[in-house]
Amino acid sequence: MPTEMQIRSQLRHVGVSRLHRDHEGLVALIITFHSTVGDLFNRSPTAKDWSRIDSVLEDLSDYTFRHFQYEEQLMAKHGYPHLAEHREQHRQLVSQLEGFQDKMRRRDAKFSVDIDFFLLDWLFTHINRYDMKYKDFFEQKGVS
Ligand SMILES: [Fe+2]
Ligand SMILES: [Fe+2]
Repeated sequence: MPTEMQIRSQLRHVGVSRLHRDHEGLVALIITFHSTVGDLFNRSPTAKDWSRIDSVLEDLSDYTFRHFQYEEQLMAKHGYPHLAEHREQHRQLVSQLEGFQDKMRRRDAKFSVDIDFFLLDWLFTHINRYDMKYKDFFEQKGVS
C-alpha cells in the first residue's frame, strides 16, 4: 500500500492553480477512502464502515462533478481545441465512478488491493495523461 506522501507525489501540476487545488482536493478524498477501507481486508465491514464509505464516495462524486464542470467551462472560455474529447473522458470517468458507487451501495465488495487501486488509477490516469495536455495551452493564454 503506498503511503499518503507517495500518493500525493504522483500528482502532476497542470499549471492552473485553481485546477491543481481541485486535483489535490480529489486526492485528499481518495486518501480518506483509503484510510476508511484500509483495515477491511481482514474483517467484514460494520454498518458504520459502510456509512463512512457511502459518505466519502458521495463527497467524491459531488467534488468530481463540480471540478469537471469548472474545468470544461474554463476550456470553453478560452477555446481549448480538445474540449469535446476531454468532455467525453469526463463522461466516462463519471460513469465509472457511478458504477463503483453502485457496487458499494449494493454492499457488493470484497476489499482488496484491487479496490484500493481503482480510484487512484481512475484519477491519476486522467490528470497525468489528459489534464496535463492543457498545461501548455493555458500557459499560452496566460491562465495560471
Ligand atoms: Fe479533466
Ligand atoms: Fe482535472
